[in-house]
Amino acid sequence: MSDPRTNDPRINTFRRRLPGVVYGGDYNPEQWPREVWQEDVRLMRAANVRLVSLGIFSWAALEPADGRFDFSWLDEIMDLLWANGIHVDLATPNAAPPPWLATDFPEILSVDRQGVRHGIGSRGHFCPSSPVYRDRSLRIAGELAERYGNHPALAMWHLGNEYHSDCYCDLCDERFRGWLRERYGTLDELNHRWGTAFWSQRYGDWSQVHLPRPVRGWGNPSRELDFSRFTSDLLLELVTRERDLLHGITPDVPATTNFFGCRLTDSHRWAKELDVVAFDCYPDPGKPDSMAVAAFQYDLMRSLGGGRPWMLMEQAAGAVSQWKTNQVKQPGRMRLGSYQAVAHGSDAVMFFQWRASRQGQEKFHSAMLPHGGEKTRTWQEVKALGNELRAVDEVATARTRARVAIVWDWQNWWAVEGCAHPDNTFDYRDTVARHHRALWNSQVAVDVVTLDDDLSPYRVLVVPNHYLMARHHTAAVRKFVEDGGHLLVSYFSGIVDEDDRVVEGGYPGALREIIGAHVREFSPLPAGATVPVRAAPGPTPLDGFLATASAWQDDLETETARPLAVYREGHLAGGAALVEHELGRGRAVYVGTRLDDDALEALVRQVLDRAGVRPAHAAPRGVEVTERRTETSAYLFLLNHRQDKATVTLDRSGTDLLTGRRLQAGERLVLDAAGVAVVRSPPATPQGADRSSDDS
Ligand code: GAL
Repeated sequence: MSDPRTNDPRINTFRRRLPGVVYGGDYNPEQWPREVWQEDVRLMRAANVRLVSLGIFSWAALEPADGRFDFSWLDEIMDLLWANGIHVDLATPNAAPPPWLATDFPEILSVDRQGVRHGIGSRGHFCPSSPVYRDRSLRIAGELAERYGNHPALAMWHLGNEYHSDCYCDLCDERFRGWLRERYGTLDELNHRWGTAFWSQRYGDWSQVHLPRPVRGWGNPSRELDFSRFTSDLLLELVTRERDLLHGITPDVPATTNFFGCRLTDSHRWAKELDVVAFDCYPDPGKPDSMAVAAFQYDLMRSLGGGRPWMLMEQAAGAVSQWKTNQVKQPGRMRLGSYQAVAHGSDAVMFFQWRASRQGQEKFHSAMLPHGGEKTRTWQEVKALGNELRAVDEVATARTRARVAIVWDWQNWWAVEGCAHPDNTFDYRDTVARHHRALWNSQVAVDVVTLDDDLSPYRVLVVPNHYLMARHHTAAVRKFVEDGGHLLVSYFSGIVDEDDRVVEGGYPGALREIIGAHVREFSPLPAGATVPVRAAPGPTPLDGFLATASAWQDDLETETARPLAVYREGHLAGGAALVEHELGRGRAVYVGTRLDDDALEALVRQVLDRAGVRPAHAAPRGVEVTERRTETSAYLFLLNHRQDKATVTLDRSGTDLLTGRRLQAGERLVLDAAGVAVVRSPPATPQGADRSSDDS
């Protein structure tokens, strides 16, 4: 079976080995005596486990002393797994350097911003610049590839684990200077880019330039931004070095690493270097919006893949152990969350971890097989899901196509949460997640993009709090609108360029002509303060719009735009809070304040409506709807996140893959609380999950 999404022979080899939706998890056999291994494989088979991530934290067990390797146990477990038909996602174990390495070469340990060198006893404690760390971690990766490259169980490479080690040591300092020299060429250019005329920071010699260690007061924001870029690039270098080595030895084996939404690593850039995108997702069962946040992250992963497969590499079978209070997933909710990932394009459902550890930092973290063994509810649900997933194997490789995109950009994340802004409480992740949630509640498919991506497939583009905007981003947004797109952009966007330098000519300098208005003054509101907002007088597409504004007010002056909604009280009473601007064949809506959730959703629905974007299927609130398609079939996912039953009146005939039941158009399909249906039917509309006016 080849993957129609890619011509990459590595993915096609992987698909031939592991067709369908892959089920499994992290497996840490080195924590257990051999007799347990036999029970492990027996139970893995019972649960239809087809892939395990092996060896992620095994460095000390594989190399007990410098250059002395012991692969005997890994040989044995690889053979045992393969004898039971289980494939291996074999890890390079670089995430947890063993004590001998840190003791023999203390410089491999990372240093925090305060200059404190980390100790051993945890993980991720390496300096990414250390030549010794680089050498030893690459050496063991090469040993693994030479030894297991032809092993039939080997299906893919798992590079490290959740890269997130930043470091402030002298080696990194030196490398940062090198990175800057390469980026800027001359000191004059660096001085210009960093705005060092401010506070007498002008550098006269490269030796004066350092990474941002603690300073007396506020640090230079452009330097901070570059240090974030540098750290992401530095860690990515570790990934690409290992990837190149492994591809050299095993050209047919795809390589990935597991993302987890880390602020340090620009996953847009990273994903381009990986064969498969993989993600670890831990929605908090105690938080009401956690499934909406998971949907946002899944949409991001699918979009990062840009046609390559993505895999849910880790999730919890029940509770985690790293939060203050770790709530369980209630009956059926792990299953629901697993189908949610598949509904958003994942071709795998995997867990951390297979068997619950009996010792160590994560012994109370749930696992596929809990301490209580086969009698536990978790195991029963895990086993049932693994077997049930066979029924949806055919959705693997089916694609989602969205007509709506939302912008999420690491570079902006680093910049917008920088220092000394008019408001210093920006939470970019939360802001984008809120906007995505409004789209999720509207039940439309959404891609998560940057302004560097091709925007032409989309009818609607949502740009939340996009403070940092390079000149070519402005051009891309302008073209999107002029070509007929519908833009929704929220406050404090288009303010600075890629050097964190204000774009002059009236805020938002990078967007002023596109929104047809400018901001006379930013006017943040104190915590807890609110201002009522209502539709602007006269006929408006937002008739009857009422909202509560908080956190921020733009004092907007309309130019070629017209007001959509106005503040009702306070020093800006009567002034525009939302404006709309027609440009070329499209339209931009600008939101100059933080709207309450209901109002934001009403606005989003209005924008979708005018753009002619509708959900793939009508469903009651709280029922998530997505669609994946192949050339020959449409797969409609209906996921009931509510606490009660929900009824969906089908607009098509098809077969529910999970029950095998034939369904007729017009039939009322009842979904239990946490219930799921996956309805296969021939595709009625052209490729594209959401129907929009221009393709109906
Ligand atoms: C992940 C990590 C796993 C495990 C898990 C616990 O971030 O990759 O090794 O620690 O969290 O939730």
